[in-house]
Amino acid sequence: VVRAVVKSARNVYGWDVLGIEDGFDGLIFPERCRPLTLDDVRGILPRGGTILGTTNRGNPFAYRPSDDPEQEPVDLSDRVIENVERLGIDALVVIGGDGTLAIARELAEKGVRLVGIPKTIDNDLSGTDVTFGFDTAVITATEAIDKLHTTAESHHRVMILEVMGRNAGWIAVESGIAGGADVILIPEIPFRLETIGEAIAARDAAGSKFSIVVVAEGAAPRGGNQLLVGGSGHSVRFAGIGNWLGEQLAEFTEKEVRVTVLGHLQRGGSPSPFDRILGTRFGVAAVRLVADGGFNRMVAYHGPDVDSVPIDEAVGVLKRVPRDGEHVATARALGISFCE
Ligand code: F6P
Repeated sequence: VVRAVVKSARNVYGWDVLGIEDGFDGLIFPERCRPLTLDDVRGILPRGGTILGTTNRGNPFAYRPSDDPEQEPVDLSDRVIENVERLGIDALVVIGGDGTLAIARELAEKGVRLVGIPKTIDNDLSGTDVTFGFDTAVITATEAIDKLHTTAESHHRVMILEVMGRNAGWIAVESGIAGGADVILIPEIPFRLETIGEAIAARDAAGSKFSIVVVAEGAAPRGGNQLLVGGSGHSVRFAGIGNWLGEQLAEFTEKEVRVTVLGHLQRGGSPSPFDRILGTRFGVAAVRLVADGGFNRMVAYHGPDVDSVPIDEAVGVLKRVPRDGEHVATARALGISFCE
């Protein structure tokens, strides 16, 4: 995305581009803004992450100078606005997920001219079919399931794979279908331990002496709560449903159970060709949106087209896996259980 923004802004419009380090923090401390030239973005296409640095904690409307939870957050949004003016920024391109774009919307309300680009592995932003980063994460999770099959089959075990996704089960459901999981547990469909035990027993009885369970980090048992640690809002972290499930299942089934938590492996590495193309299309479309004066909008993918929607439409309501949608129905048709 950064490469596409810089290249198209320079090549098509002759504009200068500033890179802002570490998200909105870079606009609070403007010494962290630097010119981005064609040279700066040379060779970054196959790299994951961002050359600019980032944070999923920095909110200028509720800025915390330290990690001390006792410290009251302060509103530094006026400083951001002053710095946008002082740096001569005509338009901001804001790249991020629900939290980032919600902050962008507030800045837009205060008069900052900006456009958004949907980036998160969770794929939970409304207003777009898909966010960039998601495809790469699904590929990593699918490869993990493929590899877990080896031990599952050879040792007749139950293998649990915990994947990310916060409150949406997209990574779990897509990698589960792509990897041929037997059970998929997602936040949208609370599960029952007994039903998982029955699904595993039914496979055993039918001669398949192993099972693969993909569990989204935000999944929870029916009537129970998600396992969370620390913070509030976007700083809440998920505390390891996979290991909890492993302990519980070891009691419900006679089988040996092993747990793999995929963690940040699914957030890194080289982006897939799909994500490279999507990121490039998003970056070019965002610059075009700026040129057309389409502010307070987010570029979006509505297959096969890239267009845009008001940022308002993208934030606020999370896009979750529909319980009665086509993904869940497809998985069920294959005999995959959601164990509700
Ligand atoms: O929102 C993206 C995401 O990768 C989630 O899937 C995950 O819960 C979270 O970020 C991890 O955040 P951190 O790296 O701060 O632990």
